[in-house]
Amino acid sequence: MPDLNGKVAIVTGAGRGIGRSHALALANAGAKIVVNDLGAGVAGEGSDRGPAEQVVEEIRAAGGEASTNGENVADFAGAERLVQQAIEEFGRLDILVNNAGILRDRMIVNMTEDEWDAVIAVHLKGHFAPTRHAAAYWREQSKAGEEVRGRVVNTASPSGVFGNVGQANYGAAKAGIAGFTVIVAQELQRYGVTVNCLAPNARTRMTEATFGEIPKPDDGFDTMDPANIAPVVVALCADEAQGITGQCFFVYGGSVNALRPWDAGDVFARDGIWDADELLEALRDRFPDGAAPEGMVAMMGKAGGHSLRAG
Ligand SMILES: NC(=O)c1ccc[n+]([C@@H]2O[C@H](COP(=O)([O-])OP(=O)(O)OC[C@H]3O[C@@H](n4cnc5c(N)ncnc54)[C@H](O)[C@@H]3O)[C@@H](O)[C@H]2O)c1
Repeated sequence: MPDLNGKVAIVTGAGRGIGRSHALALANAGAKIVVNDLGAGVAGEGSDRGPAEQVVEEIRAAGGEASTNGENVADFAGAERLVQQAIEEFGRLDILVNNAGILRDRMIVNMTEDEWDAVIAVHLKGHFAPTRHAAAYWREQSKAGEEVRGRVVNTASPSGVFGNVGQANYGAAKAGIAGFTVIVAQELQRYGVTVNCLAPNARTRMTEATFGEIPKPDDGFDTMDPANIAPVVVALCADEAQGITGQCFFVYGGSVNALRPWDAGDVFARDGIWDADELLEALRDRFPDGAAPEGMVAMMGKAGGHSLRAG
């Protein structure tokens, strides 16, 4: 296992689910952890310090060091306090895992403004705010001549990168996080910080809210165990992963798929401006059967996974 002794990590939304597994795995590899969790309901309602405190207790019981933080990641000043807590309590910050999230699924024709705003805030601003403050800290360290090996691991979703019906708010935020990852990776490379993102799939209260109870197998490999997502985080946080940045990893069970990003596709080129009629003809020649997204079920299958929607 990569040795993360001496490193300090923040994991947001680490009180349960996938974030909890990340926190336990990073602690097991030697990192000190700030366990952030608002303790919200699956739709973002309420708050409760209990889940974060339990994870801190688990880490301490296994011999690690950790502390709780109950900030809302979408609160810009709260995110600054979160980053400051890591630096003040443990002396430094090396790793930021942006993981906190909520769901408010609705078909676009019925989605309320509040359902849109809440989901965009927790995911998209909730990635921006901690990253912004961590990045300023790493830039300062780099300018002061320190060797920085900063790590940001973001959390996108198959819904965002492949598209999932009923999740225009969530998928748009998650696709935004994938785009944010590429840009921030480009910006922070000069300071020694890598920025990658995950598109995970695991059994948590979030997936059970959408798909109902997901049974555990009686024996053998449990492909839906949230712990399956953590090894890619630990690997990306190793010093040896310094050159790997701006990537999006689909993770399901034992499959880790380094997804191809938006890529150059078919060029429709001419010397001057296109005549719309001629362009329409060229498009119809290129797409004789039309063109539409394949959807999440098909794409997850191709990526080495399985969508619960596939039954
Ligand atoms: N479970 C999956 O299959 C799956 C698939 C794709 C993406 N994801 C993403 O993985 C991440 C973790 O999800 P999960 O499935 O473990 O869900 P979860 O509901 O079990 O955990 C999410 C945690 O985030 C916390 N949280 C919510 N809003 C917060 C806020 N504003 N500030 C701080 N903490 C907050 C919650 O209290 C909760 O403990 C999310 O970003 C989710 O969108 C999960």
